[in-house]
Amino acid sequence: MQAGKNKELKNREMRMERILITGAGGQLGLELTGELIARYGAESIVATDINPEMAKRMPACHFQTLDVMDTGALDHVLKTERITQLYHLAAILSATGEKKPVMAWQVNMGSLLNVLEGARKFKLNKLYWPSSIAVYGPNSPKKNTPQYAVKEPQTVYGISKLAGERWCEYYFNTYGIDVRSLRYPGLIGYKTLPGGGTTDYAVDIYRNAVANDAFSCFLEKDTYLPMMYMPDAIRATVELMEAPTERITVRSSYNIAGISFCPEDIYNSILHYLPDFKISYAPDFRQKIAEGWPQSINDEYAVKDWSWQPTYTLEKMTADMLTNLPQYMNRQQKSGS
Ligand code: NAD
Ligand code: SER
Repeated sequence: MQAGKNKELKNREMRMERILITGAGGQLGLELTGELIARYGAESIVATDINPEMAKRMPACHFQTLDVMDTGALDHVLKTERITQLYHLAAILSATGEKKPVMAWQVNMGSLLNVLEGARKFKLNKLYWPSSIAVYGPNSPKKNTPQYAVKEPQTVYGISKLAGERWCEYYFNTYGIDVRSLRYPGLIGYKTLPGGGTTDYAVDIYRNAVANDAFSCFLEKDTYLPMMYMPDAIRATVELMEAPTERITVRSSYNIAGISFCPEDIYNSILHYLPDFKISYAPDFRQKIAEGWPQSINDEYAVKDWSWQPTYTLEKMTADMLTNLPQYMNRQQKSGS
């Protein structure tokens, strides 16, 4: 009886939150928005993106076009929508960042500072901002890379994520902002397309396999990277954000581990289902980026603090991707996205 009442109270509290998501039209944003709608109710969510076209792809909720670099526009939304929590996902990823380094720095740092200041001015309850394995560099340990290893990132994306982590911790220490963050590995899912990262090949390979096209891989066959299947990444995000404050001991960003594999591993896992699938290798500038990153991650702090456990292996992910991707590719073709 009491347990039922407590659950009802928690549900009511969750539905009183007003949640703003920036970059909601991206690979992570579309899926996370869906999960937050399911947990908090569509009326609690304000999904935003700089690209107005994203409105067509959004799950049913209130969508607004918002350039998070525009401080006045961001503050207006925070105030008029009475926002209590913010998920700041808008960013320029690693491969695009190397093509446009100044723009990547300006967007990644400028938008984060706008958001941190917004959280301070409007006294938000919680702020989520994702970091990345890209904070590590060639001098970091490659395998089982620890939370507090040396970090000398060589990409603009990695430099901006590392600086962003320091700013998040600063706003927690100085202003008491409840900022929480994960260093995601490369994210792989069937519902959305990746947006200019070095780990994008691991989504593209499945799409080519399902389309019966041969795949040309921009990384070498034996390039190991930390990766994570999207359902694990979404669950990790929600578990971190809903963990009691006293359990959060890392205010920069938590390492989280999922799977570690190379292109040849993922290719072999697909061959099991599609034996005629062909791959070739044509490494480009992204090879150097990947070589500067860890091959696998040590996530002992996330495990200890809020009991993080991934559930997907490479084999389980491949089975799920190949089952679900065909219907999503059909829909994406029909909608022209
Ligand atoms: P994405 O490129 O797919 O999406 C980013 C979204 O941000 C896009 O919809 C874009 O239109 C929007 N955007 C860009 N500039 C904007 C601006 N000025 N104002 C508002 N919106 C803007 O990226 P993603 O993969 O969804 O990544 C989301 C976050 O997760 C990023 O911070 C990224 O660094 C982080 N991350 C992603 C991965 C991954 O593998 N996808 C891994 C580690 C960390
Ligand atoms: N998946 C991201 C990228 O490749 C890493 O943060 O840019």
